[in-house]
Amino acid sequence: MEFPFDINQLFSERVSVLDQTLVGGRKSAGRPDLQAHIVTVIDELGRASAKAQHLPAPITSASKMQSQRHQLYLLKDGESNGGRGVVVGFLKVGYKKLFLLDLQGVHIEVEPLCVLDFYIAENLQRHGYGMELFDFMLQHKNLEPVLMAYDRPSPKFLSFLAKHYCLTQSVPQVNNFVVFEGFFFNRSAAQ
Ligand code: ACO
Repeated sequence: MEFPFDINQLFSERVSVLDQTLVGGRKSAGRPDLQAHIVTVIDELGRASAKAQHLPAPITSASKMQSQRHQLYLLKDGESNGGRGVVVGFLKVGYKKLFLLDLQGVHIEVEPLCVLDFYIAENLQRHGYGMELFDFMLQHKNLEPVLMAYDRPSPKFLSFLAKHYCLTQSVPQVNNFVVFEGFFFNRSAAQ
């Protein structure tokens, strides 16, 4: 995803971790002009993700990021576009208080880290970038994918989780979240 400004000036690392402050790196802190470009990038990514998932409205935007305690991992390719860089995609996670049905069908209250939105630019999908981003987040959070909950995962994302992390056995829920069997096996060890 190309932008009419220098992506490398906004995001210093290959993967940037953005929170409510929307600061992409040392350079963009305290620079309203660069902050405005970061807003443009996040809004554009949110719209593209919603379109790819056929959602009526984006679930990711700069203003939503500023009002919620979520974290957004943004992957760039700094060499493309004549050295100005391109944005490859993003992954948004956050903690949510959920009521889930365990393997016995008993309601339990948990607050796992959830995948809330995930998008790799159309022309770059199926090149391993999604896994690079997801693995970065797992290392950053020091977490196993089976201990996470997934908000309304798309068919592509379910295929991704099955392929890369062998997550196939989901436990039926009454909400939009998907968790896999090991979520309950490993719970007590994780807490
Ligand atoms: N059809 C089916 N499966 C796909 C597709 C596709 N078009 N694209 C990726 N996958 C899955 C497959 O398992 C694929 O393996 P395969 O090629 O051997 O079949 C695997 O992902 C490829 O892994 P990566 O290359 O690491 O993944 P990618 O960079 O494509 O990122 C992602 C995966 C984020 C799901 C991407 O395909 C995408 O942006 N899709 C559109 C948006 C979307 O559905 N996002 C998830 C929303 S749900 C949520 O966020 C909770």
